[in-house]
Amino acid sequence: MIRGEHLGKSFGDVVAVRPLDIHIPAHAVTAIMGGSGSGKTTLLRLLSGLEKPTCGHVWFGEEDITAMSEQRLFKLREQMGMVFQYSALLNSLNVYDNVAFPLHEHTSLAEPVIRRVVSMKLEQVGLRGFEALMPSELSGGMAKRVAFARAMVMDPAVVFFDEPTSGLDPISAGVITRLIHDTASKVQMTAVVVTHDVQAGLSIADHVILMWQGEIIARGTPEDIRNSTDARVQQFVQGRPDGPIPFSRSTTPYIDDLLQAEMRA
Ligand SMILES: Nc1ncnc2c1ncn2[C@@H]1O[C@H](COP(=O)(O)OP(=O)(O)OP(=O)(O)O)[C@@H](O)[C@H]1O
Ligand SMILES: [Mg+2]
Repeated sequence: MIRGEHLGKSFGDVVAVRPLDIHIPAHAVTAIMGGSGSGKTTLLRLLSGLEKPTCGHVWFGEEDITAMSEQRLFKLREQMGMVFQYSALLNSLNVYDNVAFPLHEHTSLAEPVIRRVVSMKLEQVGLRGFEALMPSELSGGMAKRVAFARAMVMDPAVVFFDEPTSGLDPISAGVITRLIHDTASKVQMTAVVVTHDVQAGLSIADHVILMWQGEIIARGTPEDIRNSTDARVQQFVQGRPDGPIPFSRSTTPYIDDLLQAEMRA
């Protein structure tokens, strides 16, 4: 469905994603996991065409989205739903208008039709009846569910989720996780879920990709990941603070930094 070929992204000196090959299968949930700063969000933005790669290509079906015009990409993006790391609801619009927004932007459907579609999507996320609330009146979990309804409103071929459960209590996180899982199996949705919530990722995904410092260090079924003998994979899965994955990415010894600061003072 979506393929990245030799796909890489740098921001100045920072290599966020090292050139890698990736395949997102259709009608399945793919979880992209890894520690903070490992390049997950950047990879998601590359795959969804929000970010131009430094090298390589992204294929959406038969089309190379890295080579197409802005216009064509805008059109293609109607087939992609997006739930951002920080829900990104429009603060001046109520729940109804937030969910209806893509339909108003991309279609010429009559308002009664839009109302019915929005009502259906809000029912799916358990928020029918909350149309009039403003984003500031929603809890974090509710905001995520509204963002999910908005991402689904165009019946996209693929939905991208960036940290759908971060900042939520375990129960709300469980609700979101189950929602993604149930929707995926009900409507045969293709989903890409970026998360550092290991248990959530392993429980909803058909296919797991594990990243570390901009590279893919493991891929396979949740079973494959759990049974991996790679020490880095095990450290991540078990959430151990000590192991081959260091807490800090700094490459210069701490003492050198301190001495340099001392000399400058
Ligand atoms: N727009 C940007 N400009 C400069 N550097 C960036 C930009 N976006 C990401 N980076 C850098 O790229 C690296 C990967 O960032 P990214 O946001 O993809 O990580 P992540 O795995 O999503 O982390 P987290 O789990 O904390 O969200 C980081 O070192 C980050 O500082
Ligand atoms: Mg991120």
